[in-house]
Amino acid sequence: MQQTLSIIKPDAVKKGVIGKIIDRFESNGLRIAAAKKLQLSQAEAGKFYEVHKERPFYGELVEFMTSGPVVVMVLEGENAVAKNRDLMGATDPKKAEKGTIRADFAESIDANAVHGSDSLENAAIEIAFFFAKKEIC
Ligand code: CMP
Repeated sequence: MQQTLSIIKPDAVKKGVIGKIIDRFESNGLRIAAAKKLQLSQAEAGKFYEVHKERPFYGELVEFMTSGPVVVMVLEGENAVAKNRDLMGATDPKKAEKGTIRADFAESIDANAVHGSDSLENAAIEIAFFFAKKEIC
């Protein structure tokens, strides 16, 4: 059993597809162990994506992630990290396989609907960034 962090990004929240995205997780064996909707500050988004600080897209990424509310969730299930990444599809929706969340709901590499932890180690760090232990059921 693994836990991973998922973020439904501002583009998908604005489009009104929170429920459709959550359905992808629940229909594929990922349980919602925690969830909340929030507005990230520039400082919070900057800290969350600190690993990308030197990348040319960092500024736009922080800008985009603070452009509206997001939904953050802890997904739990067998092989949750890899399963979530499979369900999301490639980072660039143009390269994402048909039937994946990004292929179906995302517009561009910036507005790409969802974020998911890329390893079990980062999942633990990202989950702790957003959730206290008692908020995860
Ligand atoms: P995410 O999984 O949230 O992790 C970092 C985000 O940076 C990524 O999704 C994309 O939305 C965004 N991004 C923008 N440009 C790039 C790029 N060239 N390569 C990777 N990620 C990018």
